[in-house]
Amino acid sequence: MNTYRHTGYAPGKVILLGEHAVVYGRPAIAVPVTQVRATATIESAPPGDGLTIVAADLGRTVRLATAPPDEPLAAAAWLTLGHLSAAEPDATVTIRSSIPIASGLGSGAAVSAALIRALTAFLGHPIPPEELSPLVFEVEKIHHGTPSGIDNTVVVYEQPVYFVRGQPIERIAVGAPFTLLIGDTGLPSPTKEVVADVRRAWEHSPARFDALFDQIGDLTLEARQAIAAGDLGTLGRLMDLNHELLSEMGVSAPVLDELVRAARAAGAWGAKLSGAGRGGNVVALVEEADAADVEKALLLAGARQVIRTQIVG
Ligand code: MEV
Repeated sequence: MNTYRHTGYAPGKVILLGEHAVVYGRPAIAVPVTQVRATATIESAPPGDGLTIVAADLGRTVRLATAPPDEPLAAAAWLTLGHLSAAEPDATVTIRSSIPIASGLGSGAAVSAALIRALTAFLGHPIPPEELSPLVFEVEKIHHGTPSGIDNTVVVYEQPVYFVRGQPIERIAVGAPFTLLIGDTGLPSPTKEVVADVRRAWEHSPARFDALFDQIGDLTLEARQAIAAGDLGTLGRLMDLNHELLSEMGVSAPVLDELVRAARAAGAWGAKLSGAGRGGNVVALVEEADAADVEKALLLAGARQVIRTQIVG
């Protein structure tokens, strides 16, 4: 038997501004986080074995033939086979990821993207981002219920984006490189649940929530201009304001507020929760020279780990 081996990768992502409001058609800004990534390695298996997906970090093995249709790894594989009109291959995919799970860093989308990249390469039909992103989006619906599409877009295109649901992606201009610290609370962020809670709250008080979404949309647009101008003071202020609006929406948590407070007190230009909230990560905008102090402050305030990333545009 000849052995064929292919590897697919995808990075994590972090939302700078606009989460939740983006589900309701307002813009959001997100950037890839290449310091963490998902990897899928596919190798041929003996004839008749079918496709097996091993989630090595989770100690979970999924056999395509017997997996329930809403199992996300199996769904990613079925969608790919359907897209290529291909039969189930005899192969084993091993997935590893350094992206913290359920932390708002796009781990689900990155795993799907890496898996689909590996599988399409194995089948001899690698697909471009504009075909990959919608497939990952379909799997995101299983993970998150009513996703906006921002996670799949950023991890697949690996670019800082100004994202509006249903519209072509827009790359943002970055006037001056800037540094972000991403502090992990270590608490899972239950995205599906939080997104559903926000929907219920919006249905109950549409005027109040639409006003919050509008304010977030406006500050995201302003932030895009600040990023283009290299104006970190304004960008930091807008991130602080975005955190307050997310708190009003009910998606913050004491641990997130504490990390945000610690980052600001240690000299960050601004800080906010990132992703769905209730747990997961905060993102802080820092001067490169202050990064070590802010990182220390985040760890002292209880962050489990801090990822440093630079956005150069
Ligand atoms: C999750 O990373 C971001 C949310 O805005 C949900 C979404 O956009 O799908 C909370």
